[in-house]
Amino acid sequence: MTPPTTGHAVSLRGLTKVFGGQTVVDALDLDVDSGEFFSLLGPSGCGKTTTLRMIAGFSDPTAGQVLVGGEDVTSTPPHRRDVNTVFQSYALFEHLDVRRNVGFGLRRKGIDKGEIDQRVGEMLELVELGDRVRDRPAQLSGGQRQRVALARALINRPKVLLLDEPLAALDLKLRHAMQAELKSIQREVGITFLFVTHDQDEALSMSDRVAIMNGGVIEQCGTPEDVYENPTSVFAAGFIGTSNLMPGVYASGTVAVTSDLRIPVPGHTTSVDGDQVSVAIRPEKIWMSDFTPAMVQTPGTIVSTSYHGATTQYLVSVGTGITLTVLEQNLPRMRADDRWNAGDRVEIGWLPEHAVVLR
Ligand SMILES: Nc1ncnc2c1ncn2[C@@H]1O[C@H](COP(=O)(O)OP(=O)(O)O)[C@@H](O)[C@H]1O
Ligand SMILES: [Mg+2]
Repeated sequence: MTPPTTGHAVSLRGLTKVFGGQTVVDALDLDVDSGEFFSLLGPSGCGKTTTLRMIAGFSDPTAGQVLVGGEDVTSTPPHRRDVNTVFQSYALFEHLDVRRNVGFGLRRKGIDKGEIDQRVGEMLELVELGDRVRDRPAQLSGGQRQRVALARALINRPKVLLLDEPLAALDLKLRHAMQAELKSIQREVGITFLFVTHDQDEALSMSDRVAIMNGGVIEQCGTPEDVYENPTSVFAAGFIGTSNLMPGVYASGTVAVTSDLRIPVPGHTTSVDGDQVSVAIRPEKIWMSDFTPAMVQTPGTIVSTSYHGATTQYLVSVGTGITLTVLEQNLPRMRADDRWNAGDRVEIGWLPEHAVVLR
């Protein structure tokens, strides 16, 4: 085993879970830094909850280690681990009021009443529920219940807070508001958040770093910008945002997608001539008109347009069997009819560095 490095709030070493012969978490290695907002992002069933449960101690790993603050806690029972969990269901005590829900963990530890009252007060201040102390959970909205769960989990000042899709039950507007709030609470308390979500938008907007999980393995780990701009696998490119994915053959600095579409991929060094690869280009990186001389250009025909308010999405055919998605901002226009229509012949272009080679 690699010796633990100080400064890691959570480290996983070869963490594995097998259910009935099926490996659902497959030898995960991961280091989450102290104070980091870290997201595990992946589709339903990829092993996120199972991973969190092993970190919390609710599920025993089939193999591997869990370290919290550099200490091996693999055999430590859940209540002795310096972590707390916010579940998707919130799991509030319905018969207790807000104050008693939040103070529950401290009362169980036998901390004196004066200190409990003070810390509960601070926590309710932090989550802006100071005026709801006497309410039962049933009297609260979804967003408020979520805040109670958060306050209850943070009051013990754990080294790490594990959050399993805590915003999934909220409607879109409230979810966006809570994302911003959760992030600012995390900054304020300085506790490491390990956040699980299947929502790529949520992971990108909240996290210091994101690990993209698929089929029990981490496919890529990096900052939001890094995983979006430089995906390293076909899965990552397709799961985060949308990508135009084109299979082709690598040949001396280009990828031949069709006989008349060769895409330059400067700086790419890990393929050799003849390799089967894919090229990914993000829809918003492709422009129609307004080219710089450094752009790669190719003619195409608009197949369809769909209007999305702030943006318009075009499908553009660029030769045999290749249709690219192009996303344009609906900027202020000189004329109202200054948009493309199906059947229009266009030139499209992109900067060479925006064509990413995937294997
Ligand atoms: N207790 C269990 N027994 C058997 N299979 C399980 C159990 N818990 C989870 N699984 C399976 O493990 C896989 C990963 O599940 P889970 O970790 O809940 O995924 P996620 O949280 O990413 O949606 C799924 O195929 C799920 O059916
Ligand atoms: Mg889950």
